[in-house]
This record gives sequence, C-alpha cells and structure tokens, in this order.
Amino acid sequence: MEKYYKIVTYGCQMNIHESEKLAGQLSQRGYVSCDDDNLADVIVFNTCCVRENAEQHAYGNIGALKKLKKSKPSLIIAVGGCMTQQKGAGDKLKKTFPFIDIVFGTFNLSSFGEMLDKKLSGKKVGVQVLEKEGKIVEGIKPLRTSFPNAWINISYGCNNFCSYCIVPYVRGRERSRKMEDILNEVKLCIENGYKEITLLGQNVNSYGNDIDDKDVNFAKLLEKINEIEGDYRIRFMSSHPKDLTEELVKVIAKCKNVCNYIHLPIQSGSTKILSDMNRKYTREDYLEKVKIIRKYMPDATISTDIMVGFPGETEEDFLDTLDICEKVGFSNAFTFVYSIRSGTPAEVMENQISDDVKKDRIMRLVEFQNNKTRELSKTYIGKTVKILCEDYDKKRECYLGRDEYGRMGYFKSNCNLIGKFVDIKITSVNGISLYGDIVKN
Ligand code: 5AD
Ligand code: SF4
Repeated sequence: MEKYYKIVTYGCQMNIHESEKLAGQLSQRGYVSCDDDNLADVIVFNTCCVRENAEQHAYGNIGALKKLKKSKPSLIIAVGGCMTQQKGAGDKLKKTFPFIDIVFGTFNLSSFGEMLDKKLSGKKVGVQVLEKEGKIVEGIKPLRTSFPNAWINISYGCNNFCSYCIVPYVRGRERSRKMEDILNEVKLCIENGYKEITLLGQNVNSYGNDIDDKDVNFAKLLEKINEIEGDYRIRFMSSHPKDLTEELVKVIAKCKNVCNYIHLPIQSGSTKILSDMNRKYTREDYLEKVKIIRKYMPDATISTDIMVGFPGETEEDFLDTLDICEKVGFSNAFTFVYSIRSGTPAEVMENQISDDVKKDRIMRLVEFQNNKTRELSKTYIGKTVKILCEDYDKKRECYLGRDEYGRMGYFKSNCNLIGKFVDIKITSVNGISLYGDIVKN
C-alpha cells in the first residue's frame, strides 16, 4: 500500500528548498507526495516567522487539523522551520496543539527522517529543537520539485542583524558550504537537465567569509560554476548592498551563464531609517551600487525588497523611498509592511507606526511600483526574448517561463517545451506578464 505525505510550506525560497530536503527524506522512506489532507499519512508544516501574518497562517492551518487527527490517530503531524526555532516557540506550539507529533527546528531539519522513524516505532518524539546551529550536514538529497529550476544553498544563517529581522536568531550565524560540495551539486543538476540554478543564501555576497581561504568567495564561486559546460543559467539571492563590490559586479558581467539580474533589497530610501535598520549603507551608497551595476551591465535589471512603516518612518522618509524607486527603476519590488518581531532591537524602538499609516503607505508604494512595472513591460512589445520554459498554465492554455531578467513570458505551443529555451516575440503585455509567439526553438 502506498504511503503519502503532504508538505505545507510558508515563506521564502530558502524554505521552499528546505521542503525539498524534507521531501527527499520522506521519499527515501517510501512516501509519495499528495495534496489531500485526508489521504496523507504524514503532514509536515515548514513554517516562517519573518512577519506576524506568516505565523498566524501556520497556526490557523495546524489548528484546523485537530478533527482529522482525532478521526485518524495514525496520521503524523510534524511542524518545523523558522517559527519553531524561536525561543520557547516549540513548547508553546505543542501546548496549544497537543496533537502535534513532531516539532523540529531549522538546525535539525536533516534529522527529520530519523525523528519520523522513531515516532513510527512507537516512541515519543515531541519537541526537538536544538538551541545552536551545528556543522553543515551534507548528503541530504532533495527531492526537487521545480524542474527545470534547481535551488542550491551556498550558505546558511546570517550575521547582519538588521534591527527588524528575526532571521539571525532562528537561522544562526553564517556558515558557508565548501566550494567543492556546491560545485558537485551544480554539476549534478546540469547533468540531470536542470537549466536554471539559483544559489541561495541570506547574503550570498558574504559567501566564504567564514572559510579561512582567500580563494573562497562569491566571485570565485561564480567563476568556477560558470566554467561548467552546458546550456544553463545561474541566478543568486539575496545580495546585501553593503557587500556588493565592483569586483563582484565585473565577474557577474563577465560570466556568460550568470544572469544580468540582481535582487538587491533596499528596504528604505531614507538614510536615517537605513541607519536605524542597521543596514550599514546610505541612500547614496545604494545609488552608487546601482551606478556600478549599470556601468558594467547596461541591460541589467534590479529587483528589490522594500519595507514601509519601520519605527520612526516619517512621511518625508517614505517619500524618500518612493523617490529612490523612481531613480533606480526597479524591474520588480517585493513590498512589505513592517511587522514587530519579538526579541529584535526594533521591537523596543519608540515611534512605532500606526496600522492606518502603514496601510496608506503600502498602498501608495504598491500602486507606484505597479505603474512602473507596467511601463517597463510595454517597452518589451516587438522585442524578442529568450524564455526558459518552466510550466504550462492550464487556465491561460499557455506555456510560461522567465527571461534572463526575471520577466515572465507566456506563449502557445503544440509540443511540450518545459525545460527548453525558447525565443518569443512579444506581441502584448498585461501588467507584469508578457505574451508572445515563438520565433524559433
Ligand atoms: N517586517 C516586515 N518585513 C520584514 N522583512 C524582514 N523582516 C521583516 C519584518 N520584521 C522583509 C525584508 C526582507 C524580506 C525577506 O522580508 O524586506 O528583505
Ligand atoms: Fe534579515 Fe538583514 Fe540578514 Fe536579510 S541581511 S536575513 S534582512 S538580518
């Protein structure tokens, strides 16, 4: 009889990839993925705590399983990820929902399979959250779920301690994987037909800082990966502006497989707010980095993360954020409302911003960026872009994929082109999406 699992993932790309590592451990034990709670023998929640609403979502969805667990006691419910890694959070969760079988943290995700084995052998597992990060565990094979895109960790944790952010507390200090391990994983993915590799780290630019070898850094890593033969693209995220050097930009520009696309979170356009956020760059520094990017890659696109409503943010500070967005011309922006995170320095800052003001600012920011994105989309009409076909959209009856610059393109085809690079000529646009006809493939 088949055994089924379902994984519910919240949060960022890092979590999506870690769910692939959980899936790997489950499939190794004979489980098959499913979407149906009623069919599942194991349900895993891989949680996020970067903002309050992510936590609320997870709490709501875990609580909703109470009835199912009662009617099917053999169902194993496990909760892991960033939310459970917060101090005392695992115990609190288990107390609120005693029907949870396994609670694990970010530091022992690689032991999830063993915890499951233990539970299945009739032993109690309960809350197993480690206080400290250990050494990097290699050899956990992910079950990749996003062909032709492959996610690969290059580092874990973060040393930056931006004053609003909980990540350094739940993911520990920055640990870089060995270059050799990363290169082997990239090679394997390319051999297996993956066409787009995204290198993941909280701050990819500081890759190697914890390794005592001057030849191990992010620029060197990109150069080495770029030497691997094949028709593929390399992306990376996220870059911290303080660590993006001219040397690195030159390398990105030079490496033909590395996309001329940089996700460069700005957070705010006000130097005062950036300083309170402990971002370690000014508005002018950020604009200087953009200038460097444009100098070596005039065609590059830059996307960003922006937050509104950080403590003390005045209308003037907010207008500075809109102004810098105008100056840079981001191709895309992920916009967030500041959310108080327990234990971070910003939690106790004075002048917290009211919900009404936050709402007003996020609406203005989103409208501003949407208009910008739409304007940019229109400039694509008549151009031919190279899309990596990633999926088929049943509703639109179109294939879809992204160009080097991160733009989403849709097109019709009678044959399955997933995993192929396709040239399409853009005929129309709708918001951020481009529509076109195949030129050649
Ligand atoms: N509130 C709102 N947004 C946050 N981010 C990180 N911490 C918070 C917070 N406390 C955003 C930042 C980061 C992105 C991943 O999430 O913009 O770049
Ligand atoms: Fe959080 Fe800042 Fe680290 Fe990004 S760089 S994970 S925002 S502390």
